[in-house]
Amino acid sequence: MSVHNQVNRITVPQIMARKNKQPIVSLTAYHAHTARYIDPYVDMLLVGDSLGMVMYGMETTLGVTLDMMIAHGAAVMRGTERALVVVDMPFGSYEESPEVAFRNACRVIKETGCTAVKMEGGERLADTIHYLTQRGIPVQGHIGLTPQSVQVMGGFKTQGRTEDEWAAIEEDAAQVAEAGAFSVVLEGMAEPLAAKITRQIAIPTIGIGASPTCDGQILVLEDMLGLSPKPPKFVKEFATLGAAIAGAAEAYAGAVRERAFPAPEHTYGMKKVD
Ligand code: KIV
Repeated sequence: MSVHNQVNRITVPQIMARKNKQPIVSLTAYHAHTARYIDPYVDMLLVGDSLGMVMYGMETTLGVTLDMMIAHGAAVMRGTERALVVVDMPFGSYEESPEVAFRNACRVIKETGCTAVKMEGGERLADTIHYLTQRGIPVQGHIGLTPQSVQVMGGFKTQGRTEDEWAAIEEDAAQVAEAGAFSVVLEGMAEPLAAKITRQIAIPTIGIGASPTCDGQILVLEDMLGLSPKPPKFVKEFATLGAAIAGAAEAYAGAVRERAFPAPEHTYGMKKVD
């Protein structure tokens, strides 16, 4: 890890200054080469714990470990130079106490070189967010549909569908902002509630399945590339890479079976091999 490649990256104050201004563009990234392709076009990259489901085929994010997050966080840092990189704190690595959260977040920051960490939870995490930010660790909040609480919620369910749920979610947003988070992800949230929270709090809101009025948007990269077998309903596919990969594999298989690959230009022929 090198701290030198932090020099030209987008900073936390720059993201905070985008409240009510030009929308913040964010995507997830788990992998050095794909991160390199998207780095010029995004403001923030999230190494999300969704990697457990997307990269490892897990049913939920609960099995993701701190070591997995650190390995993928370091890969994304090596592949990028511009975007602010946030790494998710996985389930079990921060809920116990502010001290445990600080110790594990320090590992993430030191071993990946990323700028910030993200944690799921509202009011109950306010003390932890305050503790970390006071000690130099920028924190992104995450409220609404929080996938690490899937067992408590009984599934991946949109939050705030009825107005009687709103007050508690608004309080979560207010407490995360007051505790010092530099931005907050609003996931799977009824549109008018996400719009209301965006008007109410002083930090940028980053929506996913929430509202176009959020201060920014994030999508899981593989979902928007058309690589996910069952993307959530709110996802727009901006490419169809799943079909492109299958087509390329079919073409390769045909070429190998017909002995049309490797062609002479793809072999070392009689050239001296180094
Ligand atoms: O893990 C993740 O990818 C996330 C985003 C969906 C916000 O938390």
